[in-house]
This record gives sequence, structure tokens and C-alpha cells, in this order.
Amino acid sequence: MTALEAVLRRRSRSSVSEIAPTHDELLPFVEAAATVADHGDLKPWRLIELRGSARSRLGAAFVEASGLDGKDAAKLAEKPLRASLLIAVVVSYKPSFKVHRWEQEAVASGVAHTLSLLLDEAGWGVFWRSGGHTRSEAVHRMHELGPDEELLGWLYVGGVVTEKPEKKRSFNASRFVTTL
Ligand SMILES: Cc1cc2nc3c(=O)[nH]c(=O)nc-3n(C[C@H](O)[C@H](O)[C@H](O)COP(=O)(O)O)c2cc1C
Repeated sequence: MTALEAVLRRRSRSSVSEIAPTHDELLPFVEAAATVADHGDLKPWRLIELRGSARSRLGAAFVEASGLDGKDAAKLAEKPLRASLLIAVVVSYKPSFKVHRWEQEAVASGVAHTLSLLLDEAGWGVFWRSGGHTRSEAVHRMHELGPDEELLGWLYVGGVVTEKPEKKRSFNASRFVTTL
């Protein structure tokens, strides 16, 4: 499969099964994703695997951030349980005069997009999620992030359960490319 084919074939999987790559299975994909263009080679990112009860703790942090209670809180608390592996994508800003924070976010985002593509191409189901509480204090604390770190959301990873029909690709690229 060419890179072009893999990119065109990729689709987000909102529902996935219980299976998920192990830590050791994940590492080669991360190693490959880490080759994205990176100004100054700062590696301004890291990933955190959330498995098992860590996902419930994330649900509790969502609830704390939301201030909800009752049924709405219970529903929110279950959101991270939609996959058995969540990969938190963290931008870890590095001090640099030359490489601004937005450039470092671009690198972390590139790693996450590339990792999603690689996992998808390998047959895993992936869905990148964020939400209004992503950068809340409770969620920050739950991930034990440092003061110079922010979340870019989570890659929900699991087994592919349903074959969706081919994505309709009617994108008119010429409307998004201009020439000066
Ligand atoms: C940073 C980021 C955060 C996202 N957060 C959500 C989210 O919380 N909920 C959601 O439905 N889609 C979210 N999306 C979009 C989905 O991951 C996905 O791209 C979208 O459903 C389109 O599907 P496709 O990737 O197959 O084209 C997010 C995408 C990105 C890049």
C-alpha cells in the first residue's frame, strides 16, 4: 500500500472492540510517528497510555471539571470507556527562542496524525477525541502534566468492529490551493 492509498483509506472509527495494541506493539508505531518534521528536533511531545482504571479516573476528572451530577455526570464519566486504550497526546513545550509554541504544537499534532494513520493502516480502529474539558485543571492534574504541558486530546484505539462504506471523497483540492 502506498502512503497515498493509506491516507485515502483511513477513516475514524467511533466504535471499537475491546482489543487494543499492547505497550510493546505500540512502540514501533510511535518510533515511526516520531520522524515527523520537528524544527530544532525539540521533540516537544509525549504520549500517555490510559488503560483499565486510568480511563475511569479520566471520567471522574471530566465530571469534576464539568460540575455535573446525577445521570449527566454518570454519562460523562463513561465516555473514556469507549475504548480499552486511550493515548493522551501531550504537547510538552520546550524553551526555545527560535521555535515558538505554535510550531511545537504543530509537531505534536503531526505525531498524533501520523500515529493515527499508522495504527489505521495496521488494522486498528482509531478516533481522535477532545472535548470541552480537555484543558481543564482536573484533567491536567489527572494526567500529572507539568506546567509547560497541554493536552491535544486522546486517540481512542481498539479493534475494528464495523466496516463502514467507503468514505465519500468529493474534496475539491483546487479550492484550497492558491498561488501568489
Ligand atoms: C484535535 C482533534 C480533536 C477532535 N475531537 C473530536 C471530538 O471530541 N469528537 C468528535 O466527534 N470528533 C473529534 N475530532 C474529529 C474526529 O477525530 C474525526 O476526524 C472526524 O470524526 C472525521 O472522521 P474522519 O477522520 O474519518 O474523516 C477531533 C479531531 C482532532 C484532530
